[in-house]
Amino acid sequence: MKKKTLLAGFALLGALALTATGCASDSDATGDAGSGGDDGVVTVGFAQTGSESGWRSANTESMKEAFSAENGFELIFNAADNDTAAQIAAVRDFINQGVDAIVIAPIVEDGWDDVLQEAADAGIPVVLEDRTVSASDDLYASWVGLDFKKEGVMAGEWAAETFGDTPTKMVVLEGTTGSAPANDRAEGFDEAIEGTAIEKIDSQTGDFTRDGGKTVMEGFLQKYGADGIDLVYAHNDDMALGAIEAIEAAGAEPGVDIQIVSIDAVKDGMQALVDGKINFIVECNPLLGDLAAGLVLDVLDGKTVEKKVYVEDQTFTQEQAAEVIDSRPY
Ligand code: AHR
Repeated sequence: MKKKTLLAGFALLGALALTATGCASDSDATGDAGSGGDDGVVTVGFAQTGSESGWRSANTESMKEAFSAENGFELIFNAADNDTAAQIAAVRDFINQGVDAIVIAPIVEDGWDDVLQEAADAGIPVVLEDRTVSASDDLYASWVGLDFKKEGVMAGEWAAETFGDTPTKMVVLEGTTGSAPANDRAEGFDEAIEGTAIEKIDSQTGDFTRDGGKTVMEGFLQKYGADGIDLVYAHNDDMALGAIEAIEAAGAEPGVDIQIVSIDAVKDGMQALVDGKINFIVECNPLLGDLAAGLVLDVLDGKTVEKKVYVEDQTFTQEQAAEVIDSRPY
């Protein structure tokens, strides 16, 4: 199944790599890069989290485009519907099928040691994309994604600058419990607002979904009233969009009566920012497919790859969003 030559479609990778920064490391304990068949096709099992958000849809599309038949891959795609046990079972299934490589967007950080060891024992290299794991980095070849803590810091810095010494009641819509972005975005934000007059009065998971964000926000509004909340920090745009629905249903004006800061910068989120319903967004770039595919090919070719490849994020005010929204690719 394996191929050895880099494909023309990946000429693009050099350019993309310029936007990414890495931590050099070799990738030996991550599978036998020489295994696989000889029909020129690289078979890759991709264990996606699910389809919880607009970000996830854009990420899945990017991965499917990069790991396409046209680019020399056979992609076996699995979306686990945010079920960690199902995602681990999918990876075991890829191992049993004898794929050439496995790519995982891990739902949560913990619990990966055994199955990653099984992949290594089977000589199948693993590349992580998007989210990280707590397992030893000896168990996977590389990871490509975003600096979630930095995203939280950037969101928190906006809040600190905007509210400063003004007493501010904040509620938080957390991402999936135990996931790297939920953990790191909380940590980064909390560090950035330390010493300000922003008080976190409540924090609950909305599981990165629009419905989850709406339901949790409805609960917060019932408990504290619209007048008792000044700021919402949503760990992603979809939950912010759900919160907007809840705030409007409660008769308050999102972005004015209750300010909102979120993370992702997907199309719907950016539109809400342009419309004045969200106040600030930190980007989380979902277009990781080409970088992930390039890493898989390099690992299979026995090349040394970066252990961590970070893609840079930017931030958007309402005015900046209005300028760029039409040219955004997702
Ligand atoms: O892991 C990235 C996060 O997962 C995105 O911010 C969120 O929208 C998605 O569900």
